[in-house]
Amino acid sequence: EKDCPMTAMQPTARTQPMERTCPFSPPEGYRTLREEDPITQVTFPDGAKGWLVSRYSDVRAVLADPRFGANGQQPPLPGMFLTMDPPEHTRFRRLLTGQFTVRRMRKLAPAVEQIVAERLAEMAAAEGPVDLVQAFALPVPSLVICELLGVPYADREEFQENSSRMLRLDASQEQFEQAQMAMYERIHQLVVAKRAHPTDDILSGLVQSGVLTDEEVTGVGVLLLIAGHETTANMIALGTMCLLGHPGQLASLRADPELMDDAVEELLRYLTIVQYGLRRMALEDVELGGQRIKAGSVVVAALPSGNRDATHFSGDPETLDVRRPYSPHLAFGHGVHQCIGQQLARVEMKAALSALIDRFPGLRLAVPAREVPMRDDMLIYGVHELPVTW
Ligand code: HEM
Repeated sequence: EKDCPMTAMQPTARTQPMERTCPFSPPEGYRTLREEDPITQVTFPDGAKGWLVSRYSDVRAVLADPRFGANGQQPPLPGMFLTMDPPEHTRFRRLLTGQFTVRRMRKLAPAVEQIVAERLAEMAAAEGPVDLVQAFALPVPSLVICELLGVPYADREEFQENSSRMLRLDASQEQFEQAQMAMYERIHQLVVAKRAHPTDDILSGLVQSGVLTDEEVTGVGVLLLIAGHETTANMIALGTMCLLGHPGQLASLRADPELMDDAVEELLRYLTIVQYGLRRMALEDVELGGQRIKAGSVVVAALPSGNRDATHFSGDPETLDVRRPYSPHLAFGHGVHQCIGQQLARVEMKAALSALIDRFPGLRLAVPAREVPMRDDMLIYGVHELPVTW
């Protein structure tokens, strides 16, 4: 048994410093685990014991296996379907799939492009250096998810603040619950208002579905708001830093904008910002790769490790290669909980990164790369700030 090479993913647990040797790559210990000890027992920073799977095939197998259930706040708050198992989870998932329709996403694409263009115009007017996170990477997904849910943009700062508090690894249980409650209360007010005056947005759509209580719609709203905020924002900011750190790749992308779809997938794979992977709980005794995992054990499906597995990806998966032939990656998870916002995230990343490199041909970091504050202390990896100039 060895200490976990990662830190815990629960916001309540204290964490040790991450040992990344490169800001874009997960800790190197994963490679050894994949080769020598792919299903390994670990001790979490809070002293609890569990398992960690590091190979691509095992990560997928765990996430697709109904014998492993969700592991999170139990019982889940109303509407918090991320921590529910089927059949309860299925009820919410179906309704949400009905809301994240192709029609709605298609309708949204021009709005996303416009939001991107406006933010970039404002940035250009300000002159460098600016913090790309505050000026661009965060407002874009924030505006988009507020628009989609029907949440007034004026509430954005409060939501950002609370969602960021909930994702801090060093937050106490009390701080976490306070931030969560504040979000629930504000969204609940909105849901009540939508019931009285529905508009063309997801919260109204869910209210009108007639099968969810206001509390459940509120929970779904809170989940979407949190999930839709920091994930995409960090992919845009860290993705930009990563491209700036790989000038050859950036040049290919500038020379051939058609590569952007592949580049987005490659950045998602290479950076895997859900840095501590996903936790599941064995609902019964499970035999996995010759190991006997007892009912009640926590199993970590290490997404960042699976996404560097050379037995699945062609070429050298430890490098960034925007021309890598596509094979499915794990950045959005796998199985019944696979990211419901992934198409939206792709639309946003593509629009944001394309327009950014097009509009600012001289874009560069305004500080040495090692001075960029990395988000080792957050559930979702990325940068706290990204000072850039052009
Ligand atoms: C689930 C990643 C963007 C909404 C997930 C999961 C991952 C993930 C790994 C699986 C969680 C699990 O199995 O426990 C990402 C990344 C994003 C992103 C890397 C950006 C690049 C978004 C956006 C939205 C969203 C924009 C909302 C519009 C959700 C929801 C779930 C989820 C609601 C839970 C689904 C369920 O439990 O059935 N995401 N996500 N995500 N994501 Fe995303």
